[in-house]
Amino acid sequence: MNYDKYFSSRVKGLSQSGIRKYFDLLNDLEGGISLGVGEPDFITPEPIREAAIKSIEDCHTKYTSNAGLPELRKAIAKYQKMFIGVDYDPDTEIVVTVGASEAIDLAMRSLLDEGDEVLILEPSYVSYEPDVKLCGGKVVPIYLKADNKFRLTAEMIENAVTPKTKALLLAYPNNPTGAIMEKEDLEKIVPAIIKHDLIVISDEIYSELTYGKHHVSIASLPGMRERTIVLNGFSKSFSMTGWRMGYFCAPKEISEQMYKIHQFLIMCASTAGQHAALFALNNAFENDFKYVKEMRAEYDKRRRYMVDSFREMGFEVFEPEGAFYVFPCIKSLGMSSEDFAYELIMKKKVLVVPGEAFGEAGAGYVRCCYATDLERIKTAMGLIKEFVEEIRLQKGKK
Ligand SMILES: Cc1ncc(COP(=O)(O)O)c(C=O)c1O
Repeated sequence: MNYDKYFSSRVKGLSQSGIRKYFDLLNDLEGGISLGVGEPDFITPEPIREAAIKSIEDCHTKYTSNAGLPELRKAIAKYQKMFIGVDYDPDTEIVVTVGASEAIDLAMRSLLDEGDEVLILEPSYVSYEPDVKLCGGKVVPIYLKADNKFRLTAEMIENAVTPKTKALLLAYPNNPTGAIMEKEDLEKIVPAIIKHDLIVISDEIYSELTYGKHHVSIASLPGMRERTIVLNGFSKSFSMTGWRMGYFCAPKEISEQMYKIHQFLIMCASTAGQHAALFALNNAFENDFKYVKEMRAEYDKRRRYMVDSFREMGFEVFEPEGAFYVFPCIKSLGMSSEDFAYELIMKKKVLVVPGEAFGEAGAGYVRCCYATDLERIKTAMGLIKEFVEEIRLQKGKK
């Protein structure tokens, strides 16, 4: 049967995730170490797991309100007020979604018509581009540079914007670079955003994972709340990736449009997951974010270790200040990051992700995730060091 004719050109136009291929390779090799998957190694803390179990035992097995449990939306509003200093009405401006992933998709679908342009930072998270393309939108990449700390400037926006640009996808702390934008950096881009009347989709999923500096949301700056969709969730901050709990906060007018799609598509996020998320937040209010703080401190140790190890090997390493990735530049080895990643898996069974998986601007870099325990990171770094020495020796001999 010729299946090809059935599929939409938008779907056929998508390529497989650049990350998946490498995961499959590693799965075929026994005893490998993955620095690949962007997922906390911590198990969801026990009291949060128990809250979900209790909700099931208490027979909370039905749909919730489409926007999510009212108590959960209230807790999210309280959290956002505390954390980014922005007030959102839990009844009309917050919707609980299936991970931040659903919220990214809802934002694109509600904003884009055929040919509308979205500014996407490169390198950045793998789902933005396909989400835009599935809506018939056009991705306009903005290439970020390590010498500018992978931060966005007003000039970059000015150079990329056209009359068709509708939105800017701002993703800080950034996956894969670990870059952050500080308040002064955000203040400098606000006039360009307002001048060109853009909506900002701000993916703040790593906002709890910053090292030394508190996350600042662009929504908190004057004139920005009304034009910003804040995306966040529980995957990274509470180690709850598998629960698929996310949310968005946006002005009522935007929220209403995104909500319509969510209602038809999803109905509501999982009920047990919402009870777990509700407990996670309320518990964090009571114990001053104990679990988050413990995880952050542990990530910070691993971050330091990995950055120092790559520097000792002689690589240029941008200092990541957020998320859980190190993004060393391997250009000095004279090989592509695809080849580096492939040979590293085949020879040392260590998985890193080539920077190209996050867009062209990632070429010459590899993403190494430190959401793995320190002992394994130490072993992996030892193997990478051996690998690099072997490459250098080979190149020297030629
Ligand atoms: C930048 C970024 N945004 C969104 C997501 C997806 O998050 P969720 O698990 O909430 O769907 C990820 C997952 O790795 C991510 O790195």
